[in-house]
Amino acid sequence: EKGGYQWFMEKEIHEQPQAVADTLLGRSDGAGRLTLDELRISEAQLRAVDRITFVACGTAAYAGMVAKYAIERWTRIPVEVALAHEFRYCDPIADDRTLVVSISQSGETMDTLMAVKHARDLGALTVSICNTHGSTIPRESDAVLYTHAGPEIAVASTKGFLAQITACYLLGLYLAQLRGESYADDARAVQAELQEIPGLITDVLGRLDRVREIARFMADTRSVLFLGRHVGFPIALEGALKLKELAYIHAEGFAAGELKHGPIALIEPGQPVFIVVPGPDTPHGLHGKVVSNIQEIRARGARTLVIAQDGDTAVEPFADEVIRVPRTSPMLQPLLAAVPLQVFALELSNAKGLDVDQPRNLAKSVTVE
Ligand code: M6R
Repeated sequence: EKGGYQWFMEKEIHEQPQAVADTLLGRSDGAGRLTLDELRISEAQLRAVDRITFVACGTAAYAGMVAKYAIERWTRIPVEVALAHEFRYCDPIADDRTLVVSISQSGETMDTLMAVKHARDLGALTVSICNTHGSTIPRESDAVLYTHAGPEIAVASTKGFLAQITACYLLGLYLAQLRGESYADDARAVQAELQEIPGLITDVLGRLDRVREIARFMADTRSVLFLGRHVGFPIALEGALKLKELAYIHAEGFAAGELKHGPIALIEPGQPVFIVVPGPDTPHGLHGKVVSNIQEIRARGARTLVIAQDGDTAVEPFADEVIRVPRTSPMLQPLLAAVPLQVFALELSNAKGLDVDQPRNLAKSVTVE
């Protein structure tokens, strides 16, 4: 049942190319137009949307955080990401022009379900991005966009996460298409490039021996930091969550720009820090800014574990290790950069002799508030 792998998580990590491919399947016509007919909300209603709020927990919330960057850029609709358990109790602002998009692999997370019900009470349109047919959250929503990742057994979400980002992007591109305006060139490019992502994930999966080796030598590590910026920021958070959850190691993710506002004080000789580096062609010079961050922490003795695109030589002088991912447009990099971090957490958990699939104190779906 584990398909020859030691752990379900490992199997599910290797199923990610398929999970993304299946989530994309049948959702565009031959002429490059997205067709999300399954969203039973009228085009007029969707065109009128003037605010989008994602509600989710844990890894699913990070998928929403990634999507916020992309959807705001493509649609110019303000997007907010709320942890579902906070949304419900913060007197949220929502009406019939608000699209509340829940993201849940299981479709049974009570916090997320309660947020959806609350959103409906406020008159918002509710869409569920979900991986489990017939589960509760889609049933309680106006519409559902299924991720087709297949059953996820390991407690740690992996293929569910990449499929969630993919589905969020499809939704964002669809909204941009409906609005017709400002369908930015990069949105078009991303839509085409999404089709190549499954192959690129396979490529990443083939290059992870060094990450495994690094993890195996870190079984005694007490703390690991993760830095990212723009869409790489939620990936840093996700890398940290995976490590906490699976290896019971203190881990924190930061937005790289936040370093000098406090976290840099944590850097001492030997402190391992993963840095998710945006591609060199990311707008606003973000690549250079993150490279400077790596330089700053390296100068203070950090052990820099750098995730960078192929051909990005600028990181080399400041990297103790470079973990390469193929080149992609900036918005798509999370779908590749998340993978080495998943494998790192799995391997470290394994090196500590822990139960990778069933970490202590956790359940696959959290059905209590
Ligand atoms: O089933 P859901 O996507 O609603 O679950 C949400 C979180 O509980 C889940 O992503 C959790 O954070 C994972 N264990 C992370 O690996």
